[in-house]
Formats: sequence, C-alpha cells, structure tokens
Amino acid sequence: MDTLPGDIVPESAGLCVEPGPQIASDLRRVGSNPNHWYPLAWSRELKTGKPLGVRFAGDPIVLVRPQHEAVFALEDRCAHRQVPLHDGVVDGCALRCGYHGWTYDQSGKCIDVPYLGKDKLPNGVRAYACREAAGLVFVFPGDPALADTVPFPQLGATGDPRYRTRRFGQEVACHYTFMHENLTDMNHQFLHRKQMGQVRPRFRGMRTGHDWMEVDYTFGRTGGKQPLGEAAILGKRRGQGRENHKDLMTIRTEYPYQNLRIWTDGELPVMNLWIVYVPLDREQRSNRTFGLLSIQRPEKLGFLLDAAWPVLVWFTERIFTEDRAIVEQEQRAHDDQGADWNQEVFPAIRELRALLGRRGLPIVARPDAARERGLLADARGCTLAGTCQSVTQDAA
Ligand code: FES
Ligand SMILES: [Fe+2]
Repeated sequence: MDTLPGDIVPESAGLCVEPGPQIASDLRRVGSNPNHWYPLAWSRELKTGKPLGVRFAGDPIVLVRPQHEAVFALEDRCAHRQVPLHDGVVDGCALRCGYHGWTYDQSGKCIDVPYLGKDKLPNGVRAYACREAAGLVFVFPGDPALADTVPFPQLGATGDPRYRTRRFGQEVACHYTFMHENLTDMNHQFLHRKQMGQVRPRFRGMRTGHDWMEVDYTFGRTGGKQPLGEAAILGKRRGQGRENHKDLMTIRTEYPYQNLRIWTDGELPVMNLWIVYVPLDREQRSNRTFGLLSIQRPEKLGFLLDAAWPVLVWFTERIFTEDRAIVEQEQRAHDDQGADWNQEVFPAIRELRALLGRRGLPIVARPDAARERGLLADARGCTLAGTCQSVTQDAA
C-alpha cells in the first residue's frame, strides 16, 4: 500500500487493526477506544424520572435518574422488540418500556413482564457502568469487566474553589481526531486572527509516553491588541515586546482526554481546560464535545472574574465557533477526497496522530457484522440472542 507523508502506517505506529483488507492507514477511520470513561450527558440534562437517550459510537444508551437512587445506564433497546427505552417510564429504581411494559432494573435484568409469571422472565438488556462527576454523567461503554480497573479521569480544576468553571460543548460534525489535532496544534493562530490579532506561537518541546503526550508553547504578539477575553483568562494585560513569550501553555493528551493549562507567573495554572470528544455515530464522523474550562480567581479581587465572565464566555465561544467550522470542513474534505492525505510536518502532531492510532480501535460498520467477527462483547450478544424464544412460546 502506498503511503503519503504523515500517513499512519499500522505496523510502525502499532495501530491496533485486524489483518486483511480493512486495515486502517487512515486515522479518520480509527475508532475511539471504548474502554475508557466517557461523559455522555451533562447532569442538568438528565431530569429525575425522565429517561434520556444518548449514544456512544452508534450504540444507543439510556440514562436514568431515579428519585432516590444513583443514576444508571442501560442499552437503549428493549429486549422485546428493540424499541428505545428512553420513551419508557421510570418506576422506582427500574425502567419500564413504553410499549408492553417490560421492566428492567439498574443491572439490566428484566424484572417484570406484565402478562407473564415471574418465573418466566426473559433475559434483560446490557447495563453500563455509570458515574456522575463535575456535572457530567459518565458511562463506561467498553468491556464491563474493565470498568473497575480503568482509572476515572482527573477533571481539570473542577471542584477547586480557587477556580470558576465554564461547562461548554456541542455536537461537532467531524471525527474526534480532528478535534485532538486542533487543540494540540497551536500553529493555527492565523485562523483566530480576527479574535486574537497577530499572535505567533513558539514550540518549546514535547514529552511522550505510551498513552499520553504533551507539548509546550509560549506566544508572542506581533500585531493588534490583546483581546479583553484573553486578559480575563490570564488575569493580566499582555502587549507586545517584553511581554512576549512570558506565559507557558502545556497541552496534554492523556488518551482519550485532553488538558490545556496556561501558567503566567504563579505555581497554579491560570487556566485549566479538560475536554473530551465523544463519538456519536457508528462511523464516528460526528462527536459531542464536553469541555470544563476552569479559570483561576484573582486572589484578592475574586469578584473581578465574575464581572469579566460574560466577556470571557463570549470570547471563548467565538474561538470555539471558528475551530468548529474548520474541523467540520476538514471532515467534509476528507469525505469528498476519500482518504486522509494529511501531510503533517509538525513533530508534535505527528506524535499525537501516532498516539491516537495506537490507542484507537477499528471502526466496526454494523453490529451484526461485528458480532460475526466476534468483535462485540459477549454481554451484547446475550442481550439479543436467546431472549425472546421462551416468551414467544409462552405468550403466543
Ligand atoms: S417492545 Fe418493549 S415491552 Fe414490548
Ligand atoms: Fe483554535
């Protein structure tokens, strides 16, 4: 197979791929590894007693917040006729399908079929490990046996009273790897010239490990004035000349999460962003971004940050809007041109791409195709297979 500069070559990158023609040398066809904790909703979106349907890479998942118990997550597909459970009814600590009323507890076990005896209950649906933290509902969509051992992410500076946190994010129509590249590659300041003026980044080095990499930058202003939004983030006015290259930015990718921190002159970062991009559709051409942007409060005049907050929100939203537009263009270009012909020249992005390739998994086109190839967890197989035979006989 011919490769172009910047291509991910499976053998050299250690890409986890199946043998045969479906080998992915195209990073945009590498799936996000499900064996991590991913936020699938903001806590505020999940109302008590009102199930919420969400997705991870095409897998439908329903989140439930019972009145008195912790949030739980199930496969969003009734074991009876496959209809979504998120249109069902929360009944105590269980979820009752809206069609015939089959009822599932937090473990996914079917505990009631209204027209069957209790001794004839069919199998249930898959349950997912689920946790709530920092205003997010996290689910472990991969192998359930790993949920207890895979570390839960460190969520930036949320929970630290010295910071105020903005929760932001939305659906973005691109593969999650475009988002990773966008955040890591500060050489795209030109894109933000209307918001930021002329800013020149300087690459200060990088460090790498098996499942992480981080890169350092400083910045110099070569034209225009510092925008107020940036001043609100740094807590400092920065001009040109001697003010240049004072502040350090470190962007760390700790698969599958990213963390961007900026230091001015203190030990604590003045900004601490934790962010992740959750694939939505099965082909992973869209993602939902969840960001926790924490800004340090000035030690003495903490209220100043609150006063500047609307400007900061406006500024960061404008930046995000520009980033979103360009990564969506990248995805459309990839689709039109049929492959990833990236000619990457920047060492940090080459390293990042290798990391994303190494830690990802092949994208599986359809669940049944995956099952035939033995790729899906057994738990899924048993959900759909063997469930309904005895019921059909009994209920007929
Ligand atoms: S489809 Fe859910 S109970 Fe029948
Ligand atoms: Fe950007």
